[in-house]
Amino acid sequence: MKIAVLPGDGIGTEIVAEAVKVLNALDLKLEMDTALVGGCAYEAHGHPLPEATLKLAKEADAVLFGAVGDWKYDKLERQFRPEQAILGLRKNLGLFANFRPAICYEQLVGASSLKPELIAGLDILIIRELTGDIYFGQPRGRRIATDGHFPGAEEAFDTMRYSRPEIERIAHVAFQAAQKRNKRVTSVDKNNVLETSQLWKDVMVEVGQQYPDVELDHMLVDNAAMQLVKAPKKFDVLVTGNMFGDILSDEASMLTGSIGMLPSASLNSSNQGLYEPSHGSAPDIAGKGIANPLATILSAAMMLRFSLNQEAAAQRIEAAVKKVLEQGFRTADIYSEGTTKVSTKEMGDAVLKALA
Ligand code: NAI
Ligand code: MG
Repeated sequence: MKIAVLPGDGIGTEIVAEAVKVLNALDLKLEMDTALVGGCAYEAHGHPLPEATLKLAKEADAVLFGAVGDWKYDKLERQFRPEQAILGLRKNLGLFANFRPAICYEQLVGASSLKPELIAGLDILIIRELTGDIYFGQPRGRRIATDGHFPGAEEAFDTMRYSRPEIERIAHVAFQAAQKRNKRVTSVDKNNVLETSQLWKDVMVEVGQQYPDVELDHMLVDNAAMQLVKAPKKFDVLVTGNMFGDILSDEASMLTGSIGMLPSASLNSSNQGLYEPSHGSAPDIAGKGIANPLATILSAAMMLRFSLNQEAAAQRIEAAVKKVLEQGFRTADIYSEGTTKVSTKEMGDAVLKALA
């Protein structure tokens, strides 16, 4: 089993080191090769996603990714920005389905900004479409307006776009995921205003007919944003487009106590995948050794489950994470009085110990 390890920038290197440590302790035949990605790759090779890195990722069964980016690259031309690396990987590997399970561990109920009774026992799955929508739709650009409210003024425009096959494949992913859970899918769109959302809803209904055992309902995105903080446990699988999913999944991360707890998987149609924490490179805490590595370690567990067919090993990691939380180990982002504050490395060591 070949894994491309791409730690990236900022805390990426610190948290991926802990996940690699955990993977190495599993006695699986894993071949892990590391390459540069993001700002560090730009500095070394003049491009955030060098050919060699892309090749390594394409040839691997799975990619374990840290994070990319730093404010110091903000002035670079768009094509050289670190964030282009992750977009390039998604595009080149055809990663269209992004899974973000928002689980609130019992021990962290108090770490969330929400009332404990709202999130205790929370276990929902957000599935975000990753290759379509307004992030990629053409045409886009800047021009002088010839119509609208201010003809003659400078304007910018993007295009929200979805094709039927794009929606169909993410719909199948969502219904199949729900079949393995509580058999409910909530499809989130803005069909009262958007044409893309109307097609989205139509296709969800059609594909849903092939899954009579799964209950489907629809929610407008503004209402979904509200319901996620009002009654998050009412969801099972939430499926939505690229932009709405970007926003709602970040919102959902706060239900779990910390963005440092939220893993993610991005899959293509042959279950090859890229696994990364939902957070970014956290330049504000990079190099301090205090970042929470659990989101990355849990992402590695998802990698074993989805791409490497190692369910037992995935469950071992998840059980070990639960155990270290029970033992009271906390990085700074989830620390509360009466628990033991640990560094990134100490958290990794605690997971290793709990695995044994
Ligand atoms: P961020 O997720 O890096 O940080 C947001 C806040 O959460 C910060 O206060 C940070 O210290 C904290 N945080 C994040 N991960 C943490 C962890 N594991 N443990 C403890 N605290 C943690 O988002 P931000 O600050 O908006 O972006 C920073 C850089 O990351 C930017 O360059 C951005 O473009 C990039 N980014 C990259 C992503 C990726 O590689 N997939 C995703 C999101 C942002
Ligand atoms: Mg985001």
